[in-house]
Amino acid sequence: MQKFDVVVIGSGPGGYVAAIRCAQLGMKTALVEKYDTLGGTCLNVGCIPSKALLDSSEHYYNAHKNFADHGIETGDVKVDLQKMIDRKNQVVKQTTQGIDYLMDKNKITVLHGLGSLKDKTHVLVEKNDGEKQEIETKNVIIATGSKPSALPFAKMDKERIITSTEALNLKEIPKHLIVIGGGVIGLELGSVYQRLGSEVTVVEYLDRLIPGMDGALSKELHKVLRKQGMKFNLSSKVTEISRDGDKVKVAFENKKGDAETLEGDYCLIAVGRRPFTEGLGLENAGIELDERGRIPVDEHLKTSADNIYAIGDVIRGAMLAHKAEEEGMLVAEQLAGQKPHIDYNLIPGVVYTWPEVAGVGKTEEQLKEEGTKYKAGQFPIRALGRARASGDIDGLVKVLADEKTDEVLGVHIVSARAADMIAEAVVAMEFRASAEDIARISHAHPTYMEAVKEAALDATEKRALHI
Ligand code: FAD
Ligand code: NAI
Repeated sequence: MQKFDVVVIGSGPGGYVAAIRCAQLGMKTALVEKYDTLGGTCLNVGCIPSKALLDSSEHYYNAHKNFADHGIETGDVKVDLQKMIDRKNQVVKQTTQGIDYLMDKNKITVLHGLGSLKDKTHVLVEKNDGEKQEIETKNVIIATGSKPSALPFAKMDKERIITSTEALNLKEIPKHLIVIGGGVIGLELGSVYQRLGSEVTVVEYLDRLIPGMDGALSKELHKVLRKQGMKFNLSSKVTEISRDGDKVKVAFENKKGDAETLEGDYCLIAVGRRPFTEGLGLENAGIELDERGRIPVDEHLKTSADNIYAIGDVIRGAMLAHKAEEEGMLVAEQLAGQKPHIDYNLIPGVVYTWPEVAGVGKTEEQLKEEGTKYKAGQFPIRALGRARASGDIDGLVKVLADEKTDEVLGVHIVSARAADMIAEAVVAMEFRASAEDIARISHAHPTYMEAVKEAALDATEKRALHI
C-alpha cells in the first residue's frame, strides 16, 4: 500500500494549491480527482471558461456597438458561437494541462478516481471502471468544492433549463434567456449572451442585484446593465419553471404580489451553489455536516477529526477560487509547523461584467449595522481623463474610512478594470493604511487608478481635486 504524508481530495484551486504547497514543504503528497482533468470547477466550468466567453463576447460587443465611435468602420460583424466555444475549450485545456505540469514538477502523485475516507488514515480511490485502490496517509485535506443549487420545483433538464455548466457550452445564441438569480453567475453569463444578441431577463428574489456587495455597487451595476439592455424583475418570487418543446416558461410573483409569466427559449438557474460531499465517506471518520451541508471546521480549518482538514467551497465563507487557494496554503503551512493566518475581511470579491465590479473590506451597510463611525469618499469614473479617452465612463469608486483614525475600512468599485484596481485597496488595507496614505501616493496619469486616489482624497477631507 502506498503511504503519504498528505492526501488531498479534489483538484480545484483549493486542492491543487494545497498539494503544491505541501510538496514544496517536503511532504509526500497525493492528489485525488474524480474527473479526468485537474483544476476543479474553477478551471473546467467556472472562472476560466466564463472569463474566456466574457472576453470574446466583449470583443464582439465593442466591434458591433463601440468601434464606430472611435472612427473604426467594421462592416457587418458576425458571431461564430461554435468557434467562440472552441476557443474557450482550448483555453481550458491549456490551463488544466498547466496543472498536470505543476503536479509533475512538484512530484505529486495524481490519482484519478472518486476519493472516499475508509477511516481517518485510509483513503479509497475508485476509478470509473470500478477498480479500487487503498492508500494510507497521515493527513487528509478535503477540497471537494461545490455544485449548482437547484430549485425544488424546477426540473433542470440541462438542455433548456440549465446551470452555468451548460450555459458555457450552448449550441446556439438564445433568443430570450431568462436568468433566475441576479448574483455573480447570473450577471456574468447573462452579460455574455446579452452582448451576443440575446434578450436577457433576470428574475431576482431580493430587492437588489449582487446582494452581499456594497449597495452603491448594486445600484450602479443595475443602472449600467439596464442601459446595456438587460431587463430586471427584482423582489420577484419564481413559482414555476416549465418546458414545452423549445420554449421555457417562468412564472413568478412580482414585487406587487401579482402573478406574471415570462416566455423564453432558455432558462439559466443561478441561485447559488451548495457544498459537494457525496460519496466522500465522511461518516467513516466521524465527520458530520452542518445545517447547510458544509463540513464544519475550526479556525485552523481542522474538522472534528484531528488529522483531517477541509478548505474551499465545501466549508463556510465566500465561494471564491482565491479564498480556496489561501486556505490550501494555510493548511499546508500549518502541517509544516508554521503559523499562517488569513484575514477573511480582506478577500476581495469581483464580478466580471463590463464595467467590472469589485469590493474589499466592509460595506457601508455592514458598518452601519455594526455601529462603526465612518467617513465615505466617492468619485465618479466619468470625471477621469483616462475614462473619456477609452470611452468607458460608467462607474464609481467609494472609499470608507474610520471617522477618527482614517484607517481604510472598505473600498468598492464599479469601473472598467475594477478587477485589477481592487488590488491596490487590498494591499493598502493589509498594511492598515489610512485614506490619506492612499491619497498621498502618486498615481500614474492618466489611469483608472486615479479614481481610487480621488475617492480617498474625498474621504480624507472632502478634497477631491477633479470634481
Ligand atoms: P472546486 O473547484 O469545486 O473543485 C473540487 C474538485 O473536487 C472537483 O474537481 C471535483 O471533481 C473534485 N471532487 C469532488 N468530490 C470528489 C471526490 N470524492 N473524489 C475526488 N474528487 C472529488 N471564483 C472566483 O474566485 N473567480 C471567478 O471568476 C469565478 N468564476 C466562476 C464562474 C462560474 C461559472 C462558477 C460556477 C464558479 C466561479 N467561481 C469563481 C467560483 C470558483 O469556481 C470556486 O469558488 C472554486 O472553484 C472553489 O474551489 P475548490 O477547490 O473549493 O473546489
Ligand atoms: P450568488 O449567491 O452570487 O447569487 C444568487 C442570487 O440568486 C442571489 O442574488 C439570490 O438572492 C438569488 N436567488 C436565490 N434564490 C432565488 C430564487 N428562488 N429566485 C430568484 N432569485 C433567487 O450565486 P451564483 O450567482 O449562483 O454563484 C455561485 C457562487 O459562485 C457565488 O457564491 C460566487 O462566489 C461564485 N462565483 C464567483 C464569481 C466571481 O468571483 N466572479 C463568478 C461566478 C460565481
